[in-house]
Amino acid sequence: MTTQAQKQDGMIHGEQVDGPMEDYINRDFYEEWQQCEGVKVIRDFAFEDLRTLELGPWARKGGRGAVINIPNDVLKNDAHVIEISSGGKSEPERHLYEETVYVLSGRGASKVWYEGQEPETFEWQAGSMFAIPLNAWYQHFNTGNQPARYIGVTTLPSLLRFFKDREFIFNNPCKFPARFGGEAEYFAKAKRYNRRVWETNFIPNAPDLGLFAYSERGAGGINAVLEMAGNSTRPAISEFPVGTYKKAHKHGPGAHLVILSGTGFSLLWTKEDMSDLRKCEWREGGMVIVPNDDCIHQHFNSGPTRARYLAFHPGHMGMRKPKHGGNLSNVSKKKGGWQIEYEDQNPLVNEIFEAELAKHGAQSRMHEYLKKET
Ligand SMILES: [Fe+2]
Repeated sequence: MTTQAQKQDGMIHGEQVDGPMEDYINRDFYEEWQQCEGVKVIRDFAFEDLRTLELGPWARKGGRGAVINIPNDVLKNDAHVIEISSGGKSEPERHLYEETVYVLSGRGASKVWYEGQEPETFEWQAGSMFAIPLNAWYQHFNTGNQPARYIGVTTLPSLLRFFKDREFIFNNPCKFPARFGGEAEYFAKAKRYNRRVWETNFIPNAPDLGLFAYSERGAGGINAVLEMAGNSTRPAISEFPVGTYKKAHKHGPGAHLVILSGTGFSLLWTKEDMSDLRKCEWREGGMVIVPNDDCIHQHFNSGPTRARYLAFHPGHMGMRKPKHGGNLSNVSKKKGGWQIEYEDQNPLVNEIFEAELAKHGAQSRMHEYLKKET
């Protein structure tokens, strides 16, 4: 059955049930959206450089693009990599899912508004980060003479699979004035509170954002959490010194780690003996996604400079945080948590690290931290 919305624009579809209810319940509305968009879908979780990733046509977004969605039915979030051609622009759109953007290359401007409000406009460039307020209309413009490329990490998969209706997600008049009241300079304010938390809707240059001591994950790291546009999803930025690596840990799937600076690699595995180990090398512009619940992962700075990454987390989707300070991924396995302390890790981990450092002529500083732990 064709709905009024389908008749009007041929792109946004409402849903009516023609067959058995069981068919409707079992349909994967997110997969259907991908097919409906006709967009290239990439099913992997490690990328050396998103800036050179091969994209397909995505005219509605202003040029080319791809959806990154690993083969995991429980993944709450996904990533849209978009390239707007020079002088190009996206079609205005709004949606009932959260999207946070990091600009990988180029420059441009965006217009954001709720129906009946004066649009707020702001400019961005490589390194900028911003969040689209929930269900606000927005349009991106490339104002430079080179293609502009960004990654937007979204909560679309979980929302679409929950509501099972594209019309509800993409053509819903609901406004969220507590998140975005149309105030001037909405995309200019930034304030820090509660030690490591930045409350901001726009970051001009995330690779330079001030970070603060974060000892829980080991090896002299610094970190900040970002509260943007009143979203439930809260990205974080972490940086670790030359010659160091983080402690291995696990948590739920869906963390998208975009590398803002430095050179290194991540190890991902699920088996106790690490026989299914995957080593993912990265540099500025790279990305690693934590693909499932059982994935233990560990990040290594093997280059000659500090390394910084932006972690887009999938959020709690309305669930209250668990006990233990909110995050078992910071708690040692010995205390019932999901983190492997340095002294408990497989010796293979340090061997791989030393071999990688030798390739880049960098020196390990881990002896300081390994010693402290024992
Ligand atoms: Fe992690």
